[in-house]
Amino acid sequence: MSRFLDSELSRRTLIQTGLLAGAGATLALPTFAAARSDLVTKAIPATGEKIPVMGIGTNSFRNANHDELSAMLKRMHELGGTVIDTAAGYGESEGVIGQILGELGLQDKMFLATKFNAAGGGGGGMPPPPAAGGAPPPSAGAPGGPGTPGAASGPPRDTIGGPESFERSLDRLKTRRIDLMMVHQLTSVEALMPTLIEYKKAGRVRYIGITTPLPAQHPQLLEYVNKYPVDFIQVSYSLANREAATSVFPIAAKRKVAVMVALPLGGRRGSLINEAGDRQLPKWAADFDAATWGQFFLKYVVSHPAVTCAIPGSTKVVHVEDNQAAGHGRLPTAAQRLKMEQFWDSKA
Ligand SMILES: NC(=O)c1ccc[n+]([C@@H]2O[C@H](COP(=O)([O-])OP(=O)(O)OC[C@H]3O[C@@H](n4cnc5c(N)ncnc54)[C@H](OP(=O)(O)O)[C@@H]3O)[C@@H](O)[C@H]2O)c1
Repeated sequence: MSRFLDSELSRRTLIQTGLLAGAGATLALPTFAAARSDLVTKAIPATGEKIPVMGIGTNSFRNANHDELSAMLKRMHELGGTVIDTAAGYGESEGVIGQILGELGLQDKMFLATKFNAAGGGGGGMPPPPAAGGAPPPSAGAPGGPGTPGAASGPPRDTIGGPESFERSLDRLKTRRIDLMMVHQLTSVEALMPTLIEYKKAGRVRYIGITTPLPAQHPQLLEYVNKYPVDFIQVSYSLANREAATSVFPIAAKRKVAVMVALPLGGRRGSLINEAGDRQLPKWAADFDAATWGQFFLKYVVSHPAVTCAIPGSTKVVHVEDNQAAGHGRLPTAAQRLKMEQFWDSKA
């Protein structure tokens, strides 16, 4: 895997993607470098700004894994990835990301997305660190709820929220501006949307959004999409969890809202890769440059026309390399996507 990427990197071309419009012009606009000529990017509908389709989810980031996480973010940057999704509610995640990006000098080169809630509404709790050598604690908002294998019913409780949480996120991430600030699940949208709109006007955030990993909450999500000027939504979607494609994506496309996909590999507890087990990857996966099951599942997700990017959660360099490879080369066509669905559903 690494050899493939390294040989590709030798012919890297650096492409600057311009920002067509930014909220508030008080700070210098960042630029994002694309590492390989076959890097797949998509435009954020609100502005036309292009971002790489493959990002990273960080709800299992912990200080104890600093060195591996640092190597991962460095490698992700080398491979053209920029989108990092975190949340005030992901324990040590924001802090460790801020520290590592500072050490690597990558703060202005990444597209930082984070989330908050109103005070007491969840979204800032500090989960206990993993036991030495043991599995990480269950992730905040991890899959497990209705319709989504493994999703929790809400973000973790926090003693602080709203503006106080936002300032803490800036401190932890060591930045003066957040690229994408979202309300973490649907608990505090009404309370926080005026604050988010104000932050955007002031140039403190560039894009605003709302999230839920639970298909059962899609009707509520869509009510908010129709009511508020959101730039992004974050929902769960995968080859085994296709509900959003019928309920949410058509409205998002119509209203020009970007879609960031959480749990694209089925989540930590419902991992599609574990489910694939010993099954052989079909030979026709090579027709859209998928060489592993991870690439197969991720290319399925980001090839949906309404999807802007995916944020597979990873804590290992080898997974980041695999996932970034899925954000390069050809993506499945509509006919190939159908074939993937039929193949997966038939459990061939
Ligand atoms: N808005 C919300 O309420 C909400 C809720 C849940 C999640 N999220 C966001 O979505 C992100 C993704 O969700 P998730 O991490 O729960 O689920 P996921 O991305 O579907 O799956 C992550 C799991 O897949 C493994 N993995 C990643 N790449 C792999 C590869 N190439 N090959 C084999 N295994 C691989 C990871 O292992 P390793 O850790 O060992 O690499 C981890 O166990 C989260 O990190 C978070 O940022 C948001």
